[in-house]
Amino acid sequence: MKRLLPLLLLAAAPLNAAEHSHEAAHGPALEHRKPINLSAEEKAHIHQEMRLFLSGAQKIVTAAAANDMKVVATAARELGMAAAHAVPADLRARLPLEFKKLGQATHQGFDDLARDADSLADANHALRQLGQVMSNCVSCHAMFRLEAHAGGKH
Ligand code: HEC
Repeated sequence: MKRLLPLLLLAAAPLNAAEHSHEAAHGPALEHRKPINLSAEEKAHIHQEMRLFLSGAQKIVTAAAANDMKVVATAARELGMAAAHAVPADLRARLPLEFKKLGQATHQGFDDLARDADSLADANHALRQLGQVMSNCVSCHAMFRLEAHAGGKH
């Protein structure tokens, strides 16, 4: 019975439905994130980089738990500043400064993590660093969303 409640509330407020259709489609939170306007390819490029961040973080956690600090270092280095240089110049030019700062802090954080994993080989230290690096993921996700325009570049 509990599951029916949201539907009943919607049915009871048909006049609000149009106003809140955006909310209904995207979950209960109001959209406060700033849109960044990009081409579809640029959005896909960033999403792909993001999936690399996620899989790299997964590798780091798994390897740190197994105390395999060589794998931690390799996985972290793959997400370092060297990877950031793969961003095309015209895309980079269109990203807000705060976005670039958070992105750079993230790449640098992974470089620091890689260096320490090599020199200290301390799994707990690596996990603490990962927690700090990932606060950049959280901040940026709270601040920005991507909007793609099918007709090419904005
Ligand atoms: C500089 C800003 C920024 C940073 C830092 C950042 N992200 Fe993202 N991330 C975004 C944006 C913007 C999106 C796309 C949201 C949208 O589509 O509207 C995104 C999307 C994603 C997605 C979804 C990708 C897809 O294919 O849909 C994943 C997963 C993700 N991020 C993981 C991470 C992880 C893990 C980190 C940190 C290690 C991270 N991100 C750091 C801005 C950032």
